[in-house]
Amino acid sequence: IEVYTLIDYSLIFQGTAFTSKSSKEVTILNDHIFCVNSDGMIEKIISPTNSDYESFVTAHQNNKNFHRLDEGQFLLPGFIDLHVHAPQWAQTGTALDLPLYDWLNTYTFPIEAKFSDIQFAKEVYEQVVNQLLANGTTTALYFATVHKEASILLAQICADKGQRGLVGKVVMDDTSQNPAFYRDQNTASALTDTEDFIIAVKELAKNVKQGVYPVVTPRFIPSCTDEALKGLGELAAKYDTHIQSHCSESDWAHGYVKERFGKNDAFALHDFGLLQDKSVMAHCNFLEENDQDLFKETGTAIAHCPISNAYFANSALPLKNFSEKGIEIGLGSDISGGFSPSLYDNIRQSVITSRMLEDGVDPSLPSQERGLENSRITINEAFYFATAGGGESLSLPIGKIQENYTWDVQIVDTKHTTIPLPIFNGDELIDIFQKIMYLTRPEHIREVWVQGEKVHSKQK
Ligand code: GUN
Ligand code: FE
Repeated sequence: IEVYTLIDYSLIFQGTAFTSKSSKEVTILNDHIFCVNSDGMIEKIISPTNSDYESFVTAHQNNKNFHRLDEGQFLLPGFIDLHVHAPQWAQTGTALDLPLYDWLNTYTFPIEAKFSDIQFAKEVYEQVVNQLLANGTTTALYFATVHKEASILLAQICADKGQRGLVGKVVMDDTSQNPAFYRDQNTASALTDTEDFIIAVKELAKNVKQGVYPVVTPRFIPSCTDEALKGLGELAAKYDTHIQSHCSESDWAHGYVKERFGKNDAFALHDFGLLQDKSVMAHCNFLEENDQDLFKETGTAIAHCPISNAYFANSALPLKNFSEKGIEIGLGSDISGGFSPSLYDNIRQSVITSRMLEDGVDPSLPSQERGLENSRITINEAFYFATAGGGESLSLPIGKIQENYTWDVQIVDTKHTTIPLPIFNGDELIDIFQKIMYLTRPEHIREVWVQGEKVHSKQK
């Protein structure tokens, strides 16, 4: 008998899991045992081919902490949403009729301005965190607003609800670009508020098992002065924080930066110390060859937001191409530029978009000059971006069901619901995986766990 048979783990699960082995390959852990320690980490995974498997089950199955999944239930890693504007939850599903610049000024800045009201902030933030958890998102990288207090409140709400939240107080200090009703008072206050925010969230994080993290967050270059961008790069280095922003999203934003700096935003951001291993840049549709190299060299990740890109980028990210270059990529909902809080929906859209990009070069179609060869991604790759790719982007041990990773999982129930998934006799597990990817809705997500704690459950 190996030693682990005798260890008292905090949690033990028995069931079938799907997790990424590589960007292209999904591993199926059929009827394995998953042992989670008191830190919420996966300490041991035992295969049925292991000679101790049966004795382990016998020894533990009557314990309260032993969870045997029902037939039709499957374990998947929790999703990692690399780009969410939490305040924009208040307008999600609306206001998608204008291009980016007008959308920001007409709809989005007025909504975000309302977060000076802490009670309003509480209402919206509690709902969006619940909503993401119910959709299987266990880690989220959030933009809050320019308001320090409400931004700290978002981190507190993530902490309380058990979600791993990475939260940024947004910086918009350029008084010539941002409306008077919604911006930082001045550059100095933008930087001191950011520093206060970082300190407050780090203090809060001391008692949070799953972790909450402050993120340095210049909204995008057009919102910020050079001085603020420089100061933010210094704060990120001083406190070793993650960094997030928007990069090369639309023709307008891309063109604005080129005119101001004589270079693309990737290089401008790099000049201010804002591209490093813990940086995540949303969209990046218009990265040129040398921008792509810079992302790779600095370890900067792309938050790919396929639904939002259909509205504001008006282009399909050459996802496959970028990923094969070795750039880190994860998926983002970009609420509310994207209307869906579900990374399942974004997985589906990322596959569809990639197919349309490739279809543009199909010689049998009239539109061949629009496309890019070898662009299509598989559902396995999209799943990878929503899980392991997000974990790599954030440099955290999350996004895989594997030893020494966190117990961040969703239990999908394909069967015990009024609307079961179409799974019938003869289906292989890999078919079931694909059906889960394409058809799961929140009503099928029975339980969600983060760092070994149950944070969401839905009764049958
Ligand atoms: N660029 C600057 N701000 C935003 C925003 O809120 N959403 C999107 N999609 N792009 C932006
Ligand atoms: Fe965004």
